Amino acid sequence: MAIATQLEGWSPDSWQRRTTLQQPQYRDRGALERAVLALSRLPPIVVSWEIDELHRHLASAQRGETFILQGGDCAESLDDCSSERIVQQLKILLQMSLVLVHELKKPIIRVGRLAGQYAKPRSADTETKDGVTLPSYRGDIVNRAPFDAVSREPDPELLLRGYERAALTLNFVRALIDGGFADLHHPEYWDLEFMRHSPKYEDYKRIVESLSDSLNFFESITGRPVHDAQRVDFYASHEGLHLLYEQAQTRYIQRTGRWYNLSTHLPWIGVRTAGIEHGHVEYFRGIANPIAVKVGPAADPAYLKELTRALNPGNVPGRLTLIHRLGAKDIAAKLPALIDAVRAAGAEVLWVCDPMHGNTESTSSGLKTRRFDNILAELETAFRVHASMGSQLGGAHLELTGDNVTECTGGARGLSDGDLARAYRSTVDPRLNYEQALEVAMRIGRYARR
Ligand code: PEP
Ligand code: CO
Repeated sequence: MAIATQLEGWSPDSWQRRTTLQQPQYRDRGALERAVLALSRLPPIVVSWEIDELHRHLASAQRGETFILQGGDCAESLDDCSSERIVQQLKILLQMSLVLVHELKKPIIRVGRLAGQYAKPRSADTETKDGVTLPSYRGDIVNRAPFDAVSREPDPELLLRGYERAALTLNFVRALIDGGFADLHHPEYWDLEFMRHSPKYEDYKRIVESLSDSLNFFESITGRPVHDAQRVDFYASHEGLHLLYEQAQTRYIQRTGRWYNLSTHLPWIGVRTAGIEHGHVEYFRGIANPIAVKVGPAADPAYLKELTRALNPGNVPGRLTLIHRLGAKDIAAKLPALIDAVRAAGAEVLWVCDPMHGNTESTSSGLKTRRFDNILAELETAFRVHASMGSQLGGAHLELTGDNVTECTGGARGLSDGDLARAYRSTVDPRLNYEQALEVAMRIGRYARR
């Protein structure tokens, strides 16, 4: 039996027998054990049938029938778990998805980077400033960002605080969606002033007007608001980095005879922790959730062959998403070999493009940024390469916010390095702001239709 083989030697804690990277070092093991036990007794954030439903959507994206829009903050923060942020985040994702429905003429599956996106991989374990060395900030579920010894000490209680915030977040998302979220659907409510600055202004205006016409037409013939007719699906995802957190909510579900990670619908493995023999791949291979893995420029064909075999030995459609994040500079040279390698391995995967993480750079003043043109160039190349190889690009993975931050340069308003300090709020990676995110959605439409 495929399932039995897949699970051979696996248990929710079998990863603990492997080398596991990027895990915090807690001083007080007793406090850690108490926190993990408490976490494992809390009710889940999502349920297995929602996870199975997303799994089916991912399988259809793999066949080219739907498109995945995955996006949100690089890292959520405990302090910023506010109704405004959640509304803004949902609003931009819904608006982008409407643009995409209109342009791609297929259903869009929305997946937030939220309700658990709290743990961050770091390139170094410690950070040194003015001769003082402290543990690196690893996300609000582990420690706190300010550079002092107390903030940087990993605190097991934060696992619980993060889980509670994740539950609050998804609870509010569900309520907004059930309530219809009406004013966010209609282009009349969109903030499109920024488009006037864009050379593509006329194109964008046409898209939005036509979207508005379609919605009005639908509502006048059915006699009810569009959100009554069609429930908006929305799923949660986060990097499954902190394996004690992930393990604590891993439950056996009688109905399917499988183990599910009920802290999120779609967990993914980051590029720094995706070694075949390491703890993350071990943990992920046994859970029944659809899973994703980030694939960077260092991935080679032999690695992809082993990875797809370890994580999806039964070649189940929708089970495994590969999110390539190669950078605008490298994508044309590297992506074809990755597509060939997966094909040669006989593996079925869903390909998604993350045009953010391969394009991070630092300004002369030391701020992390990404150039809008590089983000667009990587997306455009991704669509072109997949199409030319007869492969399907089934989604985009973005770091974005519905707020008017200044973290990535470029876009319709032409933000420069000098503008960044004005509203730079990310504690980790730079995100697309509202305008830039909407513009990306419109561009994706164009690239996909070409
Ligand atoms: C992230 O998605 O925030 C991240 C750290 O990505 P990657 O693993 O691709 O570097
Ligand atoms: Co990031």
